Amino acid sequence: MEKVTLAENIHWVGVIDWNLRDFHGYITSRGSMYNAYLVVDEKTALVDTVKYTFSDELLRNINEFTDVAKLDYIIVNHVEMDHSSSLPMVAERAKNATIIASEKGKDALFEHYGGGFNIKTVKTGDELKLGKRTLRFIEAPMLHWPDSMFTYVVEDRILMPNDAFGQHFASSHQFDDEVDQHVLMEEATKYYANILMPFGPLVARKIQEIVGMGISPAIIAPSHGVIWRSNPGKIIQSYLDWSECKSRNKIVVVYDTMWGSTDKMARAISEGAASEGTDVKLLKLRASDNTEALTEILDAKAVVVGSPTINNQMFPTLAAFMNYVTGLKPRNKVWCFFGSYGWGRGAVRSMTEIAKNAGFEVREPGLEVKYVPDKDDLTQCFELGRQIATQVKA
Ligand code: FEO
Repeated sequence: MEKVTLAENIHWVGVIDWNLRDFHGYITSRGSMYNAYLVVDEKTALVDTVKYTFSDELLRNINEFTDVAKLDYIIVNHVEMDHSSSLPMVAERAKNATIIASEKGKDALFEHYGGGFNIKTVKTGDELKLGKRTLRFIEAPMLHWPDSMFTYVVEDRILMPNDAFGQHFASSHQFDDEVDQHVLMEEATKYYANILMPFGPLVARKIQEIVGMGISPAIIAPSHGVIWRSNPGKIIQSYLDWSECKSRNKIVVVYDTMWGSTDKMARAISEGAASEGTDVKLLKLRASDNTEALTEILDAKAVVVGSPTINNQMFPTLAAFMNYVTGLKPRNKVWCFFGSYGWGRGAVRSMTEIAKNAGFEVREPGLEVKYVPDKDDLTQCFELGRQIATQVKA
């Protein structure tokens, strides 16, 4: 494989997971990468490892530059196993290496892999001198786990923020300026919506903290996807916008259907919303997945969710969706619920309760239709869509 160099003696030694299609429920249609970096100096540091299935490849990549046994430091920015599960194998070979982690990272390493590691803990502002290079550490709790931290190569202004600013995007090119920009931003958006959205306020505060520390990265090298070198400010600004849940005149209709009635309602609601000039996205679950739905919801002003009633409950795909979306907590949206029922209601009531319990702003009442919507019912659906569009446009 062609060597990938970020700066003199700073190398990408990560791996490409072309075939990954499901990352704990996140549908990764373009695969992913687990990025690890090697800083070769008087002392040599490996920043992060990779998923254990690629351990041998990581060792081969490191050995292109240095004998793994000679590693002095292994930086563990984050203990989630896509980044740490090769650590036991690397540490076994790098017997003299000191492992650097946050205090919570140390605990998490023990809880994942047991003891036996030589761990030194660091906190925000601590530095590690390698020779010409200095590594500075910045704790970043909840970006993505409590243990997370960023590593900054001071002299080259390279920020290695692990999960932050990543994309689940497998590519034979490792830099942002070498890939299709539309695809890159699509994957970066999807990643933020499905991984970091619940932590929006923390994202904004962390960016402000970094700026306050005088850090202005020339390169942002995340642990997934390509490295931002052409314009790192672009992804920082995108994160600031996303963290504020900035929305545009857009409504997302998410639904599923049993015998087509909720589908008819969804289409009429969409037509009503579109009649006000609003951008509308219509996503039927089982045709689209939750990952795609959350990506569309990120910049929407309203989300209209439809489910038929089955056994006095939501349709199973909607139950999974409500579970997923309330966990990710998109903010500043108006929510409304609709659906068809037969002899007993339940779906709209259940979805409304779940949304309210999650703190979502719910427009009530929702809209329910018995069995099959007739012309008047569809007119009501159209009108509901139009009214929601008018409400959020105002
Ligand atoms: Fe890429 Fe939170 O792990």
